Amino acid sequence: MPNHLIQAGILGVGSYVPERILTNKELEQMVDTSDEWITTRTGIRERRIADPAVSTSDLAVRASRKALEHAGVKPEELDLIILTTCSKDMPLPAGACLVQTELGAPQAGAFDLEAGCSGFVYGLTIASQFIATGAMKRILVIGAEVLSRIINWQDRNTCVLFGDGAGAVVVGPVAPGEGILASKLSAEGAGWEHLYIPAGGAKMPADPVTVEKKLHYVHMNGKEVFRYATRVMEEESIHLIKAANLRLEDIDLLIPHQANIRIIEHAARKLKLPMEKVVVNLDRYGNTSSASIPLALDEAVKSGRVKAGDNIVMVAFGAGLTSGGIVLKWSKGEGESNET
Ligand code: UT7
Repeated sequence: MPNHLIQAGILGVGSYVPERILTNKELEQMVDTSDEWITTRTGIRERRIADPAVSTSDLAVRASRKALEHAGVKPEELDLIILTTCSKDMPLPAGACLVQTELGAPQAGAFDLEAGCSGFVYGLTIASQFIATGAMKRILVIGAEVLSRIINWQDRNTCVLFGDGAGAVVVGPVAPGEGILASKLSAEGAGWEHLYIPAGGAKMPADPVTVEKKLHYVHMNGKEVFRYATRVMEEESIHLIKAANLRLEDIDLLIPHQANIRIIEHAARKLKLPMEKVVVNLDRYGNTSSASIPLALDEAVKSGRVKAGDNIVMVAFGAGLTSGGIVLKWSKGEGESNET
């Protein structure tokens, strides 16, 4: 191990969404809702839905291949794969192991991480620690979800919000002063019942009664999650920007978790950021939970919205209740010269 910490950053990013689009108009035929309600209360216009034969690990593999290609890293060079998801293929084993074999990354350790919609920033923070100590050089962090399988399509409180998709990044060493400048992980476990799946785990194993009562689907107290989200998005961002020794005006781009445009606009207002500096794609994908930030990052990078040296804040909240964020200075590819 080196006797100094190595700076960790993102070497490449990729994403994948299923082709099938489900519009608000179609939802009007399924539950008592309207395009007008969904658009004005959430900002969502459509979302992607995976085909029945496609699972979370499939989406993860597709996003990962693109991230590896963007980074110029081969699967066999990976030291670790972290799959962040709350809609894993099956309770056992970790979906990351399915991704590992499908990608052909035999050297890589693999595990799943569940931190609700904050999963990706949790995963990226963990990855950065292994890079910082020099213990690892190439880590794949994926956020992937097939939420359409774990929501109750008769519950208008939840089914209009979520979508399927995946995003991935390759994490590795970058030049000093670049990459991840600060990160923060938080949880308020007392609020766990505001967003959860009651049945299907060891506490309440799935049986015909739980299935009949639809307890194996997402249950949410939207108002409480909304209240939590508006508070922590502001608090976490301000803490992170200070921890990175930056000022609000130094921030070039905010990539928030994509749950509700009203939550995002509230955060932007509090941080005095014009919406031009905020990445929003929930109108097209809905809430893709742990996939939402890497998916938005990929679109921002590939469309040229992210430039070398940009200060980016990524901030999330979700089931747990969890929250967290990362400030990074974009330095894609510059890590190559820093390798030993
Ligand atoms: O990643 C974390 C995941 N979760 C979240 O981010 C959720 C955060 N919360 C939210 O985004 C918002 O609370 C919601 C979008 C879920 C709900 O918006 P709201 O403005 O808080 O609505 P509400 O729950 O206060 O409901 C207002 C009304 C209610 O009717 P009544 O009781 O006033 O007659 C609801 O029954 O809207 C009704 N409603 C709907 N109406 C049409 C709730 N869902 C729908 C719907 N279509 N889909």
